Amino acid sequence: MEKKAKIEINNLTKAFYKKQSSVTALDDISLSIEEGEFVCIVGPSGCGKTTLLRILAGLEQPSIGDFEIRSVQEGRPLQSMVFQERGVIPWLTVKENVAFGLKMRKLPKNVIQERTDYYLKKTGLDRFAHLYPKELSGGMKQRVSIARAFANDPEILLMDEPFAALDEQNKFILQEELLSIWSETKKTVLFITHSIDEALLLSDRILLMSAQPGKIIQQVKIDTPRPRTIEDIRKDPILAEQFVDIWNHLQDEVQQSRKENR
Ligand SMILES: Nc1ncnc2c1ncn2[C@@H]1O[C@H](COP(=O)(O)OP(=O)(O)O)[C@@H](O)[C@H]1O
Ligand SMILES: [Mg+2]
Repeated sequence: MEKKAKIEINNLTKAFYKKQSSVTALDDISLSIEEGEFVCIVGPSGCGKTTLLRILAGLEQPSIGDFEIRSVQEGRPLQSMVFQERGVIPWLTVKENVAFGLKMRKLPKNVIQERTDYYLKKTGLDRFAHLYPKELSGGMKQRVSIARAFANDPEILLMDEPFAALDEQNKFILQEELLSIWSETKKTVLFITHSIDEALLLSDRILLMSAQPGKIIQQVKIDTPRPRTIEDIRKDPILAEQFVDIWNHLQDEVQQSRKENR
């Protein structure tokens, strides 16, 4: 039996219109992502990465083309999104933030309690459950967003540069925690980053996007077993070569777009 992809994107183009002019943010994107796959998208800024996630989240409409997220369980949310910042609700406690999506769906109290506690513990937030976001560091706020997204138990997780604003040490800890939860839940994850290191640490597959208008220009399969460290990326011959390869592609894209904008 042929395995059906979890996410299927078909010839998706997105243009934004403003008075006289238009911007083509995404140009004919086609791709499929398997159930349980961890895919990172890397591309220069302004290439349409956020637009692609927003379309998959139902926050924007494609101009041309379409996509499908294959649902396996009735009543489960299709997608949860984790943003770079602004992901937490300031007037709710940590615990209420994590429980928010479950409450909205009016799940039974004991289910909400159990799932919330589980992910608070998993992300090391259990001791901080009653604090408000303003009392938290940036890293802890991102943990709240991640805990909430997983607690929702969506079909897929969409993550838009969730660790970009964190310092290197915090970033590393959160990357490890994310991988640990992912390997346990086997969620399908689409993760955007502008860091090649981050993409190599996390993914099963990396998709490289061109400068505007965004197209997928290359796919890199990462077969090196996890856990991977920064040292592996520098020293492991395969990962090091993949790093350079992606670096060169991105460099070309940035140069190209600078020439065109001159
Ligand atoms: N709502 C919008 N209206 C008009 N233009 C937009 C809108 N959202 C994004 N764009 C444009 O689309 C392009 C891609 O943006 P974005 O998806 O945010 O890129 P990235 O996340 O890769 O940095 C940019 O040129 C941006 O200015
Ligand atoms: Mg973006």
